[in-house]
Amino acid sequence: MELRQAVQERRSIRRFKPDPVPETLVREILDAARWSPSWGNTQPWEFYVITGEPLQKFQAANGAAFDEKGQPQPDIKMPDSWTEELKKRYMAIGKSALDSLGLARDDAAGRNDHGRNMFRLFNAPCLIVACIDKRSTSVEYALLDVGLISQTICLLAHDRGLGTCLLACAVRFPAVLKSLLPDGDDKLLAIGIILGYPDGDAPINRFARERATLDEIVTWVK
Ligand SMILES: Cc1cc2nc3c(=O)[nH]c(=O)nc-3n(C[C@H](O)[C@H](O)[C@H](O)COP(=O)(O)O)c2cc1C
Repeated sequence: MELRQAVQERRSIRRFKPDPVPETLVREILDAARWSPSWGNTQPWEFYVITGEPLQKFQAANGAAFDEKGQPQPDIKMPDSWTEELKKRYMAIGKSALDSLGLARDDAAGRNDHGRNMFRLFNAPCLIVACIDKRSTSVEYALLDVGLISQTICLLAHDRGLGTCLLACAVRFPAVLKSLLPDGDDKLLAIGIILGYPDGDAPINRFARERATLDEIVTWVK
C-alpha cells in the first residue's frame, strides 16, 4: 500500500470481527515500527501485547471501573479543558460517533452503554499498551516518541488489513491494568492501541470525520 493511501485511509475502528489477530502479524508490525524516530534514539517506548483470557479479564475489569464511576487516576494527565476551537472539534467527533449509533443527545442510558463498551475496549481481540519507564526524566519527550511509534503501528496495521484505535480510556484506571502486567508498577502507562479485523459494515467505523484546514493550522513565515 502506498504511504499516502495508508495515511488517508486509516481511521479509528470501534467494532471488530471476533477473529483473533495472529501473533506473527503483531510481531511483524512491532518489528517494523521499531524504526520510528525518537529523542536521541533513546527509544523510550515499551509495549505489552495482551490477548485471550488476560485481555477479557481486563475488558471486564475496566468496564466495571467505568460503571463504578470512581475517580480516574491515569499516569498521564488527561486534558480536561480546551480552547474554543479544540472543544468544538472534540464535541463534533463525539456527536458523529453517537449519531452513527443512532443515539440521541438525551439518551443517557444509550450513551452510558457506549461509554462502557469503550472502556471494554470495543471487545477488540488484541490490545497493545505503550508505556515508558517510571524513571523517565523527560516524560514529555518520551510521550512524543510514544506518539510517533503509535501512529507507525496504526499505519502498518492498516496496511495489513487490521483496524486500530488509540484508546486513552484503556489507561484511565491504570491500577486495574498494572495488576495484570508483569512489572507494571515500574511503568507509566501512556496509551492503549486496540487491534482487530474491522467490521466494515458497522456505522461506527464509517462516520465522516473532519480535519482543520491548512489555513487554520499553518502559518507560513517567508
Ligand atoms: C491520544 C489519543 C487518545 C484517544 N483515546 C480515545 C478513546 O479513549 N476513545 C475513543 O473512542 N477514541 C480515542 N481516540 C481516537 C480519536 O478519537 C480519533 O483518533 C480522532 O477522533 C480522529 O479520528 P480518526 O482516528 O478516525 O481519524 C484517541 C486518539 C488519540 C490520539
